[in-house]
Amino acid sequence: MDAQSLDFHPTSLYLGAVLHLNPGSMKPPRKLHIKSYGCQMNVYDAQRMVDTLAPEGFVETASAEDADLVILNTCHIREKASEKVYSELGRLRVAKDEAAREGRTMQIAVAGCVAQAEGEEIVRRAPVVDVVVGPQSYHHLPELLKRAGDEGRAIETEFPAEDKFGFLAQPKPDAIRARGISAFVTVQEGCDKFCTFCVVPYTRGAEVSRPVAKILDDVKRLADNGVRELTLIGQNVNAYHGEGPDGKSWPLGKLLERLAQVPGIARLRYSTSHPRDVDDSLIAAHRDLDSLMPFVHLPVQSGSDRILAAMNRKHTADDYRRVIDRFRTARQGIAFSSDFIVGFPGETEQDFRATLALVAQIGYAAAYSFKYSARPGTPAADMQETVSPAEMDQRLERLQELIDSQQSAFNKAAIGTTVDVLFERAARNAGQIVGRTAYLQPAHVIASADIVGQILPVRIGSLERYSLLGELVTQHPAHAPALSPIATGA
Ligand code: SAH
Ligand code: SF4
Ligand code: F3S
Repeated sequence: MDAQSLDFHPTSLYLGAVLHLNPGSMKPPRKLHIKSYGCQMNVYDAQRMVDTLAPEGFVETASAEDADLVILNTCHIREKASEKVYSELGRLRVAKDEAAREGRTMQIAVAGCVAQAEGEEIVRRAPVVDVVVGPQSYHHLPELLKRAGDEGRAIETEFPAEDKFGFLAQPKPDAIRARGISAFVTVQEGCDKFCTFCVVPYTRGAEVSRPVAKILDDVKRLADNGVRELTLIGQNVNAYHGEGPDGKSWPLGKLLERLAQVPGIARLRYSTSHPRDVDDSLIAAHRDLDSLMPFVHLPVQSGSDRILAAMNRKHTADDYRRVIDRFRTARQGIAFSSDFIVGFPGETEQDFRATLALVAQIGYAAAYSFKYSARPGTPAADMQETVSPAEMDQRLERLQELIDSQQSAFNKAAIGTTVDVLFERAARNAGQIVGRTAYLQPAHVIASADIVGQILPVRIGSLERYSLLGELVTQHPAHAPALSPIATGA
């Protein structure tokens, strides 16, 4: 899988220049450039910001230089991620000066988790910023831009009482179609877990679940406009407990079961889940729903119980193993990805070896690993850091080597098998169409573009880096799912 297919990786995205002006308002078009870092939630939020600004006359542009409004949608998860904002703002200062020389006004807004965490500090460090807006206030953007125009600056990092989802604009049909056949839908936001290393409970606030009826409306609109694959997203998505149409609280498994019935939706995924919130409804969904993909991102962070306790994960390595076993019993061929942190305060060589042992035992299709980064305001920031930078580098390298070997064995196991691929778009190489397997592996075939949106069996011939290359199976597919020794835990 490529590095951007899961969450929290820097994604600089251009959402597609979609012209959907409100003809009633007839405001002159203004150009908007939005750049997102961090997790899938930011990708989703960027789309909602574009949709909310469209009636104000904003149209997307691929370059920051000619934009009337630049939004940096930021991530605070590690120091490196959040420092990126300031180097980007340095570049934008030059672009803003240049625009002023040409007689244009460029507004610069900082959104996302750095905006929430640092608030006014951002304008102190970078006076070029006109608007700072936290993740719970995106529906106020039009008003904040106006206020910044009138008063020189606007900062909003409150957690407003109203539900922003009720106020954020939904995409018009042409915008949905321009974004392709795979869509994210936020079903849950925020986190009440308070892992000691993590900023998310502070930047995104307390857990909130959207009502089932609202999610269904969004999903039907997406499906009516060509979306075939949904990824339900939330910082803690399996803590979902939204109000159902029966007035009761629905768990994620029940929501998935309902969404699987929406005509047109062929594949369902969800991210990111927490091992402690895996309940019977989710396991049953994996057992019963063909459209629920057998690939689960289930971060564990460490294989050492001592470190897991210090991280406040509230589960042990054995608890995690048991959760994995429940998934495997329910669904043949299910595969997993995870996140790991190396060098957490107090992590010894023995603790780190417990992480390696857990990885070796579980066998992942993919995983992300990070060096611990102390974040201001989190409990772990007050803990004594005991692992030297050199030792951290070395542990990261050892862990990544093991993960890489598992990932490459998993991908190689697909060679020679026939797998279902949902085709997404024309590939960069002329004549090729690219799609994804159930395990999110990119798969390329030579075919005509009319297969986009279809799920077709592909005979995999080879592997090039992380991409599978194959041929469409045109005859009757007597295919079996691609099972690898790693995926089955054998
Ligand atoms: N909600 C998800 C994770 C969100 S953050 C979960 O509970 O698993 C994504 C990943 O970033 C985390 O899984 C963790 O591995 C990593 N991460 C978070 N805070 C970090 C920190 N302070 N230093 C290094 N990595 C961190
Ligand atoms: Fe952060 Fe832990 Fe919440 Fe995940 S569960 S978002 S790591 S506090
Ligand atoms: Fe980053 Fe905020 Fe997501 S800190 S990982 S953008 S929730």
